[in-house]
Amino acid sequence: MAIKTVGVIGCGLMGSGIAQVSAQAGFPTLVVEANQDLLDRGLGSIKRTLDGLVAKAKLEPKARDDILGRLTGSVRLEDLKACDVVVEAITESQPLKNETFAQLDAICPPHAILASNTSSCNVTAMAAATKRPGQVVGLHFFNPVPLMRLVEVVQTILTTDATVATAFEWIQALGKTPVKTKDATAFIVNRLLVPYLLDAIRLYESGLTSLEDIDTAMKLGCGYPMGPFTLLDLVGLDTAMFVAEVMFDEFREPRYAPPPLLKRMVMAGRLGRKSGRGFYDYTGKA
Ligand code: CAA
Ligand code: NAD
Repeated sequence: MAIKTVGVIGCGLMGSGIAQVSAQAGFPTLVVEANQDLLDRGLGSIKRTLDGLVAKAKLEPKARDDILGRLTGSVRLEDLKACDVVVEAITESQPLKNETFAQLDAICPPHAILASNTSSCNVTAMAAATKRPGQVVGLHFFNPVPLMRLVEVVQTILTTDATVATAFEWIQALGKTPVKTKDATAFIVNRLLVPYLLDAIRLYESGLTSLEDIDTAMKLGCGYPMGPFTLLDLVGLDTAMFVAEVMFDEFREPRYAPPPLLKRMVMAGRLGRKSGRGFYDYTGKA
């Protein structure tokens, strides 16, 4: 089955990036948000990104207009009824995702593939909430989506090989590199990355040194593009905490438990770049 029309649910950090790369790769793409205000904000961020590329002469104005012409927004899930693939990129919550998959199953055409961008939730449970479990797959993009080349393709015990093959083809058409993984909590990258990020918070909690010095140490000492606190702020501290909770719940390993400081940052609404403040301040100061 060839993918022609794409749907994305959620136009936050990840959904906006997925919608952007999909439209950039030539696919008519419909993105659905919870309300008009959030939809305008999400589509606005895509437009700003593309305008920035035009300003840097990395994109022709006509190409930007064509990309924007392929992007439409809606606040009604029912509008996804003509899509060949729908990528869910809503908040990291298993019950919310299961409910969304049951709704999508009732709306989307019988041939459509239903995909989740979840970082850690159970894709099998989402598949089981539908009457087409063979066509449910995880498509785990990385943040920031336009710049990160990997997508983990998650095959549950119910996903058919044909669905995985179509998913691989579509991901390659987006210019990304797919890797295959089973549906085991946190897949490949987060299984390795999340304990590292949580350890960085524990190291800071221990009073060993400042968070700036931990970031500098890992950038200059290991050649990482970002230190762990800059990366946590990019990922979103709420998302990092949800992922850690799911991993702890699954494996019962203390090293996966969200550290007290992470929980308190989330309680305080310091969610990282997306809220203007996380471990660092993004409210306009240097
Ligand atoms: N679309 C298209 N192009 C874009 C763009 C966008 N949205 N944003 C920036 N670009 C272009 C820029 O114009 C720039 O081009 P030039 O170099 O020609 O000017 C180029 O891309 C690089 O942009 P930056 O200078 O902003 O990028 P950088 O070199 O500072 O690198 C980074 C930024 C790629 C984010 C790098 O810091 C990095 O790799 N950080 C680590 C990110 C990471 O680990 N992500 C994974 C998070 S975990 C996750 O996602 C999984 C989960 O489930 C939580
Ligand atoms: P986010 O908070 O930036 O965006 C989530 C969006 O989903 C919000 O705009 C919200 O309004 C919308 N939403 C929630 N319920 C909805 C519904 N029922 N219908 C339509 N829209 C709805 O979160 P994010 O960082 O974009 O994460 C989204 C998903 O991607 C999560 O599953 C997360 O684990 C995963 N993910 C995140 C990252 C990351 O680095 N942040 C990386 C890879 C995967």
